[in-house]
Amino acid sequence: MAALGNAGRLIQFARSSVSLSVRRHSTAAAVAQTATPEPQENRKPKTGILMLNMGGPEKLADVHDFLLRLFMDTDLMKLPVQNKLGPFIAKRRTPKIQEQYSKIGGGSPIKHWTSMQGEGMVKLLDKMSPETAPHKFYIGFRYVNPLTEEAIEEMEKDGVERAVAFTQYPQYSCSTTGSSLNAIYRYYSNRGDRPKMRWSVIDRWPTHPLLVECFAEHISNELLKFPEAKRDDVVILFSAHSLPLSVVNRGDPYPQEVGATVQRVMERLGHCNPYRLVWQSRVGPMAWLGPQTDEVIKGLCERGKKNILLVPIAFTSDHIETLHELDIEYGQVLGEECGVENIRRAESLNGNPLFMKALADLVQSHLKSNEPCSRQLTLRCPLCTNPTCGETKAFFANQKLS
Ligand code: FES
Repeated sequence: MAALGNAGRLIQFARSSVSLSVRRHSTAAAVAQTATPEPQENRKPKTGILMLNMGGPEKLADVHDFLLRLFMDTDLMKLPVQNKLGPFIAKRRTPKIQEQYSKIGGGSPIKHWTSMQGEGMVKLLDKMSPETAPHKFYIGFRYVNPLTEEAIEEMEKDGVERAVAFTQYPQYSCSTTGSSLNAIYRYYSNRGDRPKMRWSVIDRWPTHPLLVECFAEHISNELLKFPEAKRDDVVILFSAHSLPLSVVNRGDPYPQEVGATVQRVMERLGHCNPYRLVWQSRVGPMAWLGPQTDEVIKGLCERGKKNILLVPIAFTSDHIETLHELDIEYGQVLGEECGVENIRRAESLNGNPLFMKALADLVQSHLKSNEPCSRQLTLRCPLCTNPTCGETKAFFANQKLS
């Protein structure tokens, strides 16, 4: 849903002069300076880990196809005459979204970060879990290459025995993780045969202790960059991608799971500062989950709270919602309009080695559990009207792992 709304980068406004200092990892240019991860060994893997995410266009020429797949995804959104309206909206929005990507270096860094995280994860896993080694990671994006379906084909070609679908969204939503899992189910359903691999799924991990530790570490680091005299006055705004209320009201677990992450992170930080959970990237005339991040920034400034730390809490890697929406639109443009004193953004988890450890720990515990999915995955949203959701849940819940 990244490209539905707008996106951003961190800024610091010096109190009166409103001078801006743009933060470090806020452009794809910064990514280019980071060492490219070594390619995976050419090995025959026993365990394949499919890292699921929506992905983002790597270059401007990919934006249209990304949007087209997104607006045609009936698990994400239902539009009237979607096969006509979806392509129309994708075409119409392409120039604006291309302009946004051009401001963050010409493309999304999400594949770069996912590859680096996957490399780190499998290296750790080979040591931590020799009985399930060799491990190999695969990237399964929903709207750009490498697409989920192509990744599954590659896994089968590699002769993977045990496959783990691992969502890279810590908090579950039927619009994001649910859509990726439905794509796996549909792949086999359309092919009309059973998977050769034994599948299971890590479908959510909103309160994993190492995830919480990573967020807390990044927040503490960023708080130290505020002027000392202002540090106690900083309001922490945890910002997550919003959802239409029509999705929330059918019983989607996402808002509750995002809240759970926020609660654990603030507990870990000893409730050092006041905070709120806010929602970004609303688009269109429908009602969305709020309060909206931009309105909250304005409201805080009007009430004299002019030191703000933005924390992306539902994305683990940088992409357009952090680099453009948070950093540029809110940090630079809106911050200046509102007369903010200091506004900063906590760095995304990106290449943090502790985050790679978190991913490895999640996979190791999951493999040891011998459970095909969480209990929570087996329950459909109480007001779900998408029959594929039920079929997908049965597909994963009924996998025989031994
Ligand atoms: Fe949530 Fe179908 S929309 S299970």
